This record gives sequence, C-alpha cells and structure tokens, in this order.
Amino acid sequence: MRQFLNERLPLSEFSAHLRKPLPKHINLLFSLGSLAMFLLLLQAATGAFLALYYSPSPEHAHNAVTYISEEVPFGAFVRGLHHWGASAMVIIVFLHLLRVVLYGSYKAPRELTWIFGVLLLLVVLGFGFTGYLLPWDEKAYWATVVGVEIASTAPVLGDFVAKVMRGGAEIGAVTLSRFYALHTIWLPWLAFGLVGVHLFFVRYYGSSGTPENTPEEMKTGKPFYPDQVFEDVVGMLILFAVLASVALFVPVPLEDVADPTNADYDPRPEWYFLFLFQLLKYFQGPFEIIGTFVIPTVGMVLLLLLPFLDKSEREVLWKRPLALTVTSVSVAGVVLLTILGASSPKLETQEASQSTEQTQDAATPDIETETVEEGEEVFDFQLTEEEIDGTGEAEEVFDFQLTEEELQ
Ligand code: HEM
Repeated sequence: MRQFLNERLPLSEFSAHLRKPLPKHINLLFSLGSLAMFLLLLQAATGAFLALYYSPSPEHAHNAVTYISEEVPFGAFVRGLHHWGASAMVIIVFLHLLRVVLYGSYKAPRELTWIFGVLLLLVVLGFGFTGYLLPWDEKAYWATVVGVEIASTAPVLGDFVAKVMRGGAEIGAVTLSRFYALHTIWLPWLAFGLVGVHLFFVRYYGSSGTPENTPEEMKTGKPFYPDQVFEDVVGMLILFAVLASVALFVPVPLEDVADPTNADYDPRPEWYFLFLFQLLKYFQGPFEIIGTFVIPTVGMVLLLLLPFLDKSEREVLWKRPLALTVTSVSVAGVVLLTILGASSPKLETQEASQSTEQTQDAATPDIETETVEEGEEVFDFQLTEEEIDGTGEAEEVFDFQLTEEELQ
C-alpha cells in the first residue's frame, strides 16, 4: 500500500518537509496558534451537531435550544462545549496575538501573516456576535438591539448596514435567519479560507522562533513532526479536558424567550464585547460616534498596520520600550473597561424606548396569530389596564395567550 501511494504521490518529499527542524528557541507559547486551530475545528464539529436540532425562527429557536439542553442525549454537553468553546477561542486567539507581539513575530517578512491573523480575529468576534442571537432569549435579543444600534451610528453607511443586519426595519424573523446563515455558512467558509492562507504564510516563511535565535540556530531545533506536533496534541488534549469539565459542570444560561416589548431589560453583550459597550457610556449625544465608531475603527486600523508602523529591530517586547508601553496600556485599558462594563448600570436603547411608547399608545388590542406545534391556533393579546377595566388610570400592559378552543 505504502509503495502504491509512494509511486503516485510525493509522500517522501512531504514527509521530509514535515520533519524540517524548527528554530532552536521555541517554547509552549508557540502552540497557541495550533490550539486556536483546534478550537475552530471543535466549534465546527459541535455546531454541526447543534444544527441538527436548531431551527432559526422566532417561534422555534428558543424551544429548540431548550430541547437540546433538556431532552437530547448529550445535548447539554455539546451545547456547553460550543458555548464555552467560543469564549476559549477568543481567549486563545488573543493570547496567540500577544505572543506574536511579545516576540515581534509580525515584523518583515511576516506582515501578511499578521494581516490575515487580524482578519481572523474579526471573524472570531463575528462568530460571537452572530451566535449570541441564536437562542432567541432576552439577552440574545437585547444585546443584538444594542449591537445593531452601534453599527447604525457609522457615518454614511451606518443606517444601511443596520438595515442589512436586521433584514428590515426591526429585529425579527429575517434577522434571525440572516444571523444563522452568517454564523453557519458565511463565517465558517471565510474562517477556513483565511486560516488556509494564514497557515500557508506560516509554512512559507517558517516559524520566526524567539529573537534570541542566532541565524545558525534558526534551523537546528526540534523537527515540526513528530516533536512539535506531539506537544501541540498534548496541549489540545489538556484544553479539551478543561473545556469538557466546564461543559459538564457549568450549565449554559438560557433566559426567557425574547420579548421585544420588555423595555426594562438590561442589555449586556457577551463578556468579550463588554469593553466596547463600556466605551459607549463615556460618549453621549453628538459625541456618541467617538465611542461607537471612531475609537474601534482607529484601533483596528492601527492593529492591521502594526508591522508597518513598528519598524524597530526585532527584540523581545521588554527590550522595545515604546511597543511595551503601547501594548501594556492597550491591554490594561481593554481589561479595565471589561471589568467596568460587567458591573455598570443599564444602557438605554432606542428600540427599548420605542417599544414602550408603542405599547403605551396602543388604542386597540394587538392581535397576532401563530401556529403551535400541534397545529393549533394561538392568539396573542396585549391589553392595557384601561381597556380591561375602563378606569384609564394605570398604564400597565397585560400580555396573555389564548388558544382557539379557549376563545370559543
Ligand atoms: C482563528 C484564528 C487563528 C488561527 C487558527 C491561527 C493559527 C496559527 C498557527 C497554527 C500558527 C503557527 C504556530 C504559532 O506560531 O503559534 C500561527 C502563526 C502566526 N499567527 Fe496565527 N492564528 C490565528 C489568529 C491570529 C491572529 C489574531 C494574529 C495576529 C493578529 C495571528 C498572527 C500570526 C503570526 C504573525 C504568525 C507567525 C508567527 C511566527 O512565525 O512566529 N494569528 N497562527
């Protein structure tokens, strides 16, 4: 068999390529890229299982997620792996980026590897943002309201982008299918394409090693296969063991089904967007755009251009005072804003205030029909207290559902 394949494929050349020695000074931090790769594959695998039961419609999404968590064998575990895996991915990708900054590995000739890395970071955050809406619970809905509002403040294209995200004037069925399509089709294709290019550059330029390597030491370290691959696989197994334990013992939260009229809800994004969410609070009124658009965009552009801005000699970070200061201040800023964002008070959203006004102005009962699983019609009523007892004093709104049978 081996001979058969050898005669037809350049297997020995491929094997020689894999066995090429890496730079002499390489440490565990050089496994972070492989761990990010592993998590991307784990997210794809667990997501594929979740998709077998999930249904992207406001009527069914929340029920489907409840069903996965409570009824499907190993459903809660797989959902846990996917949920906590997303957070782990953000942490690992961020640490991988820091390791690249630490050793100045973004410097020439690896600028393109860096740029494709930054694009991957955006895709990872995109996965987080689109996935957050899918359970269609209160936090999913209201965090998306805030996210779309943020996008709408961008100059010129803001309103258009927000409209495309929502698929109309309001967040609803089209938004959910759009986010689902982005989360399960567009972003995975983009991610695997970008990873392919990223890894091509990594192999083409070879590992940068640490700056302490002399030119001779660049080709005298352990081979990529089997030594480095073995270390990476051990790292993956440890990471999986940690994730599996968290997935087994920490239930994934699921709040009540999304209620667009619940203006009292305190919207919070996922923890890795909290720093942006906190930033908004410092810029109100006409200055809002500084927090929603200017600072994030300038930050991203500077990050993309880092290899072209920092032309200093390649050294470890603590021997590059300017880079050390900028990195420490940026990381400390993001961490501090995240902590403040986690404990800060409620942020008013336009949609929240609009929906309160709508409910309070309702002169006639709002009747909507929807089909429940057994094919039975259900009527959704909203009546103000005034309509119920005619006192006209209070403005409380009552929400109730009646089946066709109960109506007759
Ligand atoms: C899904 C996200 C990512 C995956 C799967 C990934 C994967 C990898 C892998 C497997 C390596 C080789 C091993 C290593 O040096 O750790 C690598 C190297 C590299 N990555 Fe990433 N990466 C990702 C995101 C990023 C990000 C966000 C950046 C920076 C903005 C980045 C910049 C780089 C650079 C510059 C190298 C070359 C390092 C060197 O030669 O020493 N990557 N990446």
